[in-house]
Amino acid sequence: MCGIVGYIGPNQAAPFLIEGLTKLEYRGYDSAGIAVFDGKEINVEKSVGRLGILKKKIETASPNGHVGIGHTRWATHGRPSDVNSHPHTDCTGKFVVVHNGIIENYLHLKEKLIARGHVFSSETDTEVVAHLVEEYYEGDFEAAVRKVLAEIEGSYALVFMTEHDPDKIICTKQDNPLVIGLGNGENFIASDIPAIINRTRKTYILSDGEMAIVTKDSVWVMNRQGVPVTKKVFEVNWDAEAAEKGGYEHFMIKEIYEQPKAIRETMSGRLAKDNSTILFDELKWTQGEVAAINKIAIVACGTAYHAGIVGKYYLENLARIPVEVDLASEFRYRSPLIDDKTMVIVISQSGETLDTLAGLKEAKRLGAKTLAITNVVGSSIAREADNVIYTWAGPEIAVASTKAYTTQLVTLCMLAIYMAGLRETLPPARIQELIGGLRNLPAQAHEILEDVEPIKTFAQQYGFNEDVFFIGRALDYCVALEGSLKLKEISYIHAEAYAAGELKHGTLALIIEGVPVIALATQPDVYEKMLSNIKEVKARDAVVIGIAMKGDDHIHNYVDHTIHIPAAHKYLAPLLAVIPLQLLAYYAAITRGCDVDKPRNLAKSVTVE
Ligand code: M6R
Repeated sequence: MCGIVGYIGPNQAAPFLIEGLTKLEYRGYDSAGIAVFDGKEINVEKSVGRLGILKKKIETASPNGHVGIGHTRWATHGRPSDVNSHPHTDCTGKFVVVHNGIIENYLHLKEKLIARGHVFSSETDTEVVAHLVEEYYEGDFEAAVRKVLAEIEGSYALVFMTEHDPDKIICTKQDNPLVIGLGNGENFIASDIPAIINRTRKTYILSDGEMAIVTKDSVWVMNRQGVPVTKKVFEVNWDAEAAEKGGYEHFMIKEIYEQPKAIRETMSGRLAKDNSTILFDELKWTQGEVAAINKIAIVACGTAYHAGIVGKYYLENLARIPVEVDLASEFRYRSPLIDDKTMVIVISQSGETLDTLAGLKEAKRLGAKTLAITNVVGSSIAREADNVIYTWAGPEIAVASTKAYTTQLVTLCMLAIYMAGLRETLPPARIQELIGGLRNLPAQAHEILEDVEPIKTFAQQYGFNEDVFFIGRALDYCVALEGSLKLKEISYIHAEAYAAGELKHGTLALIIEGVPVIALATQPDVYEKMLSNIKEVKARDAVVIGIAMKGDDHIHNYVDHTIHIPAAHKYLAPLLAVIPLQLLAYYAAITRGCDVDKPRNLAKSVTVE
């Protein structure tokens, strides 16, 4: 995830900028840069790759100056490269900006600015912000920034500097964190507390829509209309390790809590304002090309494979194309029937999983059209595929995938709606209903995360059982697979997922008194059948925890405990139903004293066969 730092004060800015960026390295990045005002002009140094490369660059000619901003970039728009690295400048080089987040309407703004004569050097969404401030500047830096904020849409933490007004840094945020560290005759800016914790523990935490004018002696915080806001000083008492995790105990729980934001970012700029269609600027498919596809093959591993199974439901039901889903490690050894009418979709958070990459290469060898859904810009899989959709979830550090899964589901759902639009397989009203449902997801995910106490209690109650079963039908079965993988990989509890209708064909023999069974019952079309399956396990004295939608006042008659998720469209229920299962796995692992972020025998990125 991108990192931001800023400094204004009596000391040299560059050493702090580098120190702060180093503290943010754990978040993952692919390039870094700083901009320092030397008393006459702003000098920008930036470079793709590790911070060490940037450090080397400035070793010989360290930029002199007492005001500066810096950034580590985790690519979203435009591959990792020197020019795409931040800070970005306008045409004159007198305005610089660093940015975390996504400017949704950047393409439209870029066209307008190009028509006005602006010359762009990068592929990023951020560069439009630097040109916009140049466009609006009429002698008042603050007024120009305000005008920029009125134009841009999306999520951002933005920090601005200009040669015209070098004694101040202006910063603002919307849906991305930004803190100001309060020093003595100096002030610091950072996207995250670890960057400033060595310099000060007194901070202002900016809220959405606030803008701060930071000088060496003062910090003025106001809303976008310029009305002053009184801020309370937040005294940081976390140690450095806790600060890296944003105050959470583990990266996994931090990433579970990041899901509302990650889902929002995945959809950012991709939903038409009137909900009529999906906008995938990265796909230039024509109706004819899509009509020519007669089969889709989804290839992935682990959690990404589980997302692929949900994707099959979406693509078959919405876009009406036959879909097969393969584990990547199996795909290339089974002589798959693939040709130039097949679209092979590979899904991979890291974009580096060797089996998935090999599957992709095999698909290309067989002449298929290929599409990668991945989280890492410029990864091997992204480079190899004909087309790429990025999930924009931000880096996932915990070995157990959480936000990668939910953002993969959002992407697959958008893809199915997009293809349905091109294939004319869905009436406009259904497209609108689904896109409307997608828009509700961030708030609904947030609602689940607001009340985790009952889930914690179940985890403590059943965390020492050696076997747990997950059952469901249709899309609930797909979520059951992911819930069971999560539980086994971090808590080491033996967990099995079964299609509920399949139990009586063998597995029912394992259901005995006291065995916990997590029963998902969110799918209206198979709800009654699911209740019958719940009765089957209850008759064997299993302890059943039901996952159902709010408004289902029936389920508690059949189960021992119920976890309700917000009512959602049946296709979107998996995105919500998985969250209690992630939490259950997390708290079970805590109860058992497991190393949550680094489970035994597992690695985050599997680059061996
Ligand atoms: O990076 P990828 O999405 O290709 O990784 C695939 C699997 O290794 C990964 O999803 C794994 O199953 C997770 N640790 C599960 O939480």
